[in-house]
Amino acid sequence: MPSWDPSLYLKYADERTQPCRDLIHRVQLTAPEDVVDLGCGPGNSTAVLAARWPLARITGLDSSAEMLARAHAAMPRIHWQQGDIASWTAEPAEEAAPDTAGNGASPAAAADGAGRPQLVFSNAALQWVPDHFELVPRLFAQVAPGGALAVQVPAQVNAPAHVIMRELTQSAAWRSYFPMGSVRDWHVHEPGVYFDLLSPLTSRLDMWLTDYMMYLPGPQSIVDWYQGTGMRPYLDALPSDELRRVFMADVLAEVAVTYPARSNGMVEFPFRRLFFVAYR
Ligand SMILES: C[S@@+](CC[C@H](N)C(=O)[O-])C[C@H]1O[C@@H](n2cnc3c(N)ncnc32)[C@H](O)[C@@H]1O
Repeated sequence: MPSWDPSLYLKYADERTQPCRDLIHRVQLTAPEDVVDLGCGPGNSTAVLAARWPLARITGLDSSAEMLARAHAAMPRIHWQQGDIASWTAEPAEEAAPDTAGNGASPAAAADGAGRPQLVFSNAALQWVPDHFELVPRLFAQVAPGGALAVQVPAQVNAPAHVIMRELTQSAAWRSYFPMGSVRDWHVHEPGVYFDLLSPLTSRLDMWLTDYMMYLPGPQSIVDWYQGTGMRPYLDALPSDELRRVFMADVLAEVAVTYPARSNGMVEFPFRRLFFVAYR
């Protein structure tokens, strides 16, 4: 089964990192001491966090060993941790006050947020984690008082490329390879869902949508883009590299028709992203 490929992902490193820069720019925290980057991937988002807050203790967490190896090679001094966002909770910082048994943060320290990150950050990762109704309030609860949860997820499920992939799985040629439930879901909701989840909990909630207008060298670039991310659930469901190759060729044929070239031959590839920053 294919796993995350850092080189494929970083082929469009600048385009993929720009939303992360935009999200960090909007976070109104002066000097967070502890920051966690959930779904840090190859460390591109973590590097932007480290540049903005050079004195912060930063942890990059990801489930992919391949991604973490690339991140560690680029920034060995950051604390990298393999783990699942779905079960992640903030660990007390080492210097947190010990409890009476001397084996952890005291209940009082936990209650006032000691050991919790001031910034829980996640760029382009939560769409892979199920049950946002449970997940998002739980991540917010991990934030220290005065801190923030800052998230960006692609809001692309109805973009033409996604419609192409979904419809191909229902075509006569492909439907036997994609039985019901074989393609992992993409977890993103309308902005109002996040508003309803967070507004009762937060002192301030900033939320926005941005369409990034990307101009790529040709339709193959769009397939390459998705091969590194949004096409993975489809490719993972297929049993062989040969079938993956044919599936990508079929996607390319449709993408070439749906995303026509502009006057200079570049293909216009709009990409919508949802952002929110919730303060505690
Ligand atoms: C699209 S990359 C984002 C990388 C980086 N944050 C950025 O801004 O470009 C998504 C990352 O989320 C990770 N990921 C997906 N599901 C995860 C989970 N349940 N727990 C931890 N990491 C996860 C993947 O391994 C991948 O590295």
